[in-house]
Amino acid sequence: MIKIVINWGLVLLAVVGIQTSHAAQVNIYSARKEVLIKPILDAFTQQTGIQVKLLTGKADALLTRLRVEGEYSPADIFITVDAGRLHRAKVSKVLQPIQEKDWLQSVPAELRDDDNYWLGLTMRARPIMYAPDRVDVSELSSYEDLASSKWKGRLCLRSSEAVYNQSLVAATLHAIGEQPTKVWLQGMVSNLAMPPAGGDVDQIKYVAAGQCDVTLVNTYYLGRMVNSDLAEEQRVAQQVKVFWPNQDDRGAHFNVSGAGITKYARNVKEAYALLEYLVSPEAQRWYADINNEYPVVAGVVNSATLEAFGKAKRDPISLQTLGENNAKAVQLMDQAGWR
Ligand SMILES: [Fe+2]
Repeated sequence: MIKIVINWGLVLLAVVGIQTSHAAQVNIYSARKEVLIKPILDAFTQQTGIQVKLLTGKADALLTRLRVEGEYSPADIFITVDAGRLHRAKVSKVLQPIQEKDWLQSVPAELRDDDNYWLGLTMRARPIMYAPDRVDVSELSSYEDLASSKWKGRLCLRSSEAVYNQSLVAATLHAIGEQPTKVWLQGMVSNLAMPPAGGDVDQIKYVAAGQCDVTLVNTYYLGRMVNSDLAEEQRVAQQVKVFWPNQDDRGAHFNVSGAGITKYARNVKEAYALLEYLVSPEAQRWYADINNEYPVVAGVVNSATLEAFGKAKRDPISLQTLGENNAKAVQLMDQAGWR
């Protein structure tokens, strides 16, 4: 009698093996909205044949999900905005270091984690924005100057809970030290025209509506409004101008959107292929343009929208510092009464 023993484990492995070899795939958890990233991912699939599965959500919720799922997470890549958040993902141990590759060098070292747990994919600036009909440009100079009494009742700020503000304070803390940062924060809080409210777009609207004269906003929000299909958004955007602060010293505050490979990624080869694609000059141009952001790779041209905001000297701080200084920055903002 012939005895046939079937090893179901091996059969299952074989089936899985066939499936994966037929459909190379990479899974992304993204805090960026689908419309802002899908066209680039489609181009990647077209060029490489690698399918991309995209799950979008709120940044902090996605990070929590990655932590809870642990080794069972289907995610291979985590995309989020702000170096403060990317650093949070690193210290939450949901990422793995990206091995040194030639293409990685095309992203400036200060826009990557020191151990390459994450890298920047696009840059955004957080300059001063102002009402040109009520502010003489000669009044403006630096972030620190927003604490000056000449801005009493003229400043709008988004809440201190916004990571964009936390990162700006973290960078300033690095540049000028703790005591001057305290004085700066207290000065800005005492200059507020109204309690912090709304998001970045609201700050633009407050300035346009005359509720305040100066504010801090990420560049892509104004870029989006300038290019809006809605006449009202265009009208509001035209009433607000960009001022690049600290051009005589460290430069304006720039931050990144970025990505890392998850600690338990199963499609590692495909994840590397996607990151390499995202820093290619072609993808850089598209990705930055769609988001009204700056490319991170040198030699890639800025969009006409950003060129219209003018040339800026960028604070060359290592963005990892924004994450490292985050807790201290939040504490100082809280002490200053920035709600
Ligand atoms: Fe944003």
